[in-house]
Amino acid sequence: MLCSLGGSPWVELVYAGCHYKLERYTAQDKVIESISAIEKKCLPRTLALSAEELRAVVKRPNTVLLYATPRHGSVEVYGYLLAFQNRFALHISKVVVAKPHRRCGVARALIQEVFSCTKKGSATLHVDPANTAALALYNSIGFEVDGILEDYYSAGKPAHKLAKQLEQ
Ligand SMILES: CC(C)(COP(=O)(O)OP(=O)(O)OC[C@H]1O[C@@H](n2cnc3c(N)ncnc32)[C@H](O)[C@@H]1OP(=O)(O)O)[C@@H](O)C(=O)NCCC(=O)NCCS
Repeated sequence: MLCSLGGSPWVELVYAGCHYKLERYTAQDKVIESISAIEKKCLPRTLALSAEELRAVVKRPNTVLLYATPRHGSVEVYGYLLAFQNRFALHISKVVVAKPHRRCGVARALIQEVFSCTKKGSATLHVDPANTAALALYNSIGFEVDGILEDYYSAGKPAHKLAKQLEQ
């Protein structure tokens, strides 16, 4: 269950007995360090961003970084979403959840939260067709294949371009 707390800058997520909160990036260095640690653990070296690279990315206009942390206490990040957004289009660059917190609905909640800020237009993302967990996640949210990007990850390794029309 995702419950919006009025004008509060964060959203509380309660799912399967876990309590999380989702926040927009608030320039805390500990958040960036925590995200960079997950990048190193969960992504191939070629795709993982260092803390310095992440700091540069979040300064770009139209960049959105949403992350889930424990409801109370530390700023340890459990999962995050990086996207580029304007009023009419959204491109999700990555969604990553730390292993101990997977299958609790964190990725779905992050995506639904970023959708709520893009009222119309379409959402797109690129995914490795071999990444069955990510494909299942995106399919369950209503994304459909909208093209193939040959040699995207490396020679002979294509990406699927997925798209979803957002409701008004
Ligand atoms: C893909 C990933 C982000 C999913 O995060 P998550 O928080 O575990 O996903 P959720 O709990 O929100 O899952 C939502 C739905 O996605 C599907 N799903 C997620 N992980 C799945 C898996 N391993 N196998 C099958 N289906 C899966 C299910 O339909 C799930 O709903 P259900 O649990 O009710 O069956 C996570 O596995 C991850 O971080 N992987 C490594 C990084 C990555 O590949 N990111 C995507 C490309 S950038």
